[in-house]
Amino acid sequence: MAQRSQWGTRAGFIMAAVGSAVGLGNIWRFPYVAYENGGGAFFIPYLFALLTAGIPILIMEFTIGHKYRGSAPLSFFRMKGKGAEWIGWWGIFVSFVISTYYAVIIAWAMKYSIYSFNLTWGDDTGGFLFGDVLNLADNPGEVGGLVPGVFLPLLLVWVIAFVILLAGVKRGIELANRIFIPTLVAVFLLVVIRAVTLDGAALGLDAFFKPDLSKLADSTVWVAAYGHIFFSLSIAFAIMITYSSYLPKKSDITNNAFITGFANSGFELLAGIGIFAALGFMATQAGEPVSEVASAGVGLAFVVFPKIINEMPGMNGIFGFLFFFSLVLAGLTSLISICETYIAGLSEKFNISRRKAVLFGAGSASIISILFATRGGLYFLDAADYFINQFGVAAIGLVEVFLIAWVFRKLKVFENHANEISDIKVGLLWRICLTFVTPIVLGYMMFDLLRINLMKLHKDSEGNIIGNYEGYPDAFIFQSGWMVALFAIVMAIIFTMMKWN
Ligand code: PHE
Ligand code: NA
Repeated sequence: MAQRSQWGTRAGFIMAAVGSAVGLGNIWRFPYVAYENGGGAFFIPYLFALLTAGIPILIMEFTIGHKYRGSAPLSFFRMKGKGAEWIGWWGIFVSFVISTYYAVIIAWAMKYSIYSFNLTWGDDTGGFLFGDVLNLADNPGEVGGLVPGVFLPLLLVWVIAFVILLAGVKRGIELANRIFIPTLVAVFLLVVIRAVTLDGAALGLDAFFKPDLSKLADSTVWVAAYGHIFFSLSIAFAIMITYSSYLPKKSDITNNAFITGFANSGFELLAGIGIFAALGFMATQAGEPVSEVASAGVGLAFVVFPKIINEMPGMNGIFGFLFFFSLVLAGLTSLISICETYIAGLSEKFNISRRKAVLFGAGSASIISILFATRGGLYFLDAADYFINQFGVAAIGLVEVFLIAWVFRKLKVFENHANEISDIKVGLLWRICLTFVTPIVLGYMMFDLLRINLMKLHKDSEGNIIGNYEGYPDAFIFQSGWMVALFAIVMAIIFTMMKWN
């Protein structure tokens, strides 16, 4: 087999790891999660989750990749045979599913960065998104026709991803991140600086940072912090194992993990400041409290932000462009990292060239992603995203940590491996976090998630029970939610049963 790819420089690896971690989640998820869960007080559970689960697992995954020098399945196989290999494939298939819809969101952001220049969206930004842009079907589960306006930018997203992935680890992924990440930081800083100098910005920052300490007594706040840290740091996706498998033998592990973790959190905090400053401006314009205008996800980026851009004095087109362009950059570097998980896995398991693995892996992901460019796409995306995150990422995190700490009993071995090459040493505290704290919190989280979803206890924003997630019908939740989460596990088992070439 050809010599294994490697990062060219230490900075290249860090850029790539930060590029994966810093994604749409930092910009449109974190600000709202923090705001909803106690504002300033959320920093306590957030830091707790970062220090007891986020960074410890990052250190563990970096160690696994560095020690076993393989894609996630190969690394787990080398750790404990086929009984462990499936965890790697599980992460890969979860990543596969995520890549199919993540690309679509980047495609929307591309469109919106162009729309910004002439504010095509008008006053009814919701109507524009769901009507003009997405041409959304009436009912969840309906596929409807292809929406060409989404399909074309989606094609462009995949072309960019293919070019970068085909160019290889060093000349593709590393180079792209070395360009995209500094650009992203510069562009996003401009957005934040403009936002905090808007009228009413202080009002938004007040709402964001005002600590509601009573929330700390609520277990859901702690669970939210853990859930967010997993997603935000790209852990338990097979990503960080894959990326660290390209590290040269002589590399610092723990230091890199701290840098990646803190860079991601720093970006998140910056995003929180920028977004809430802008929301404060909008609330002031509308004469409403900030709580009336705050929202998350698709709604925040593609409905509320266009409104803010409309109302901004001077140079608002450029501001809008820079905001959506940051989404594109943050999204692309994360998309590349998810695709790399299955490219590495396929090429090692079946002993095929990188090129073939890109064509098979990213090729099939791009074809499936067309489903999300149809008139029913947004519903499928929403359900798949919820289920794959809860019963994919969080579940893998629990299984991975539990097996390694309690069944394979590898923590001590990993500790020695990491300490041998790292400046910052890990020890008892690290093992306690992974042996007790993380499995207990994630175990409780899983139990609660299963209870809420199986007993249909989801609530709306007023606290009324609406049944399934978002109140979607049973049949839809079954095929677009449960089946998707199950698909990842079934595929993982099938791939594990196949022979290594
Ligand atoms: N860490 C990313 C974020 O915060 C999430 C992510 C990364 C999702 C890679 C998918 C793939 O947005
Ligand atoms: Na992140």
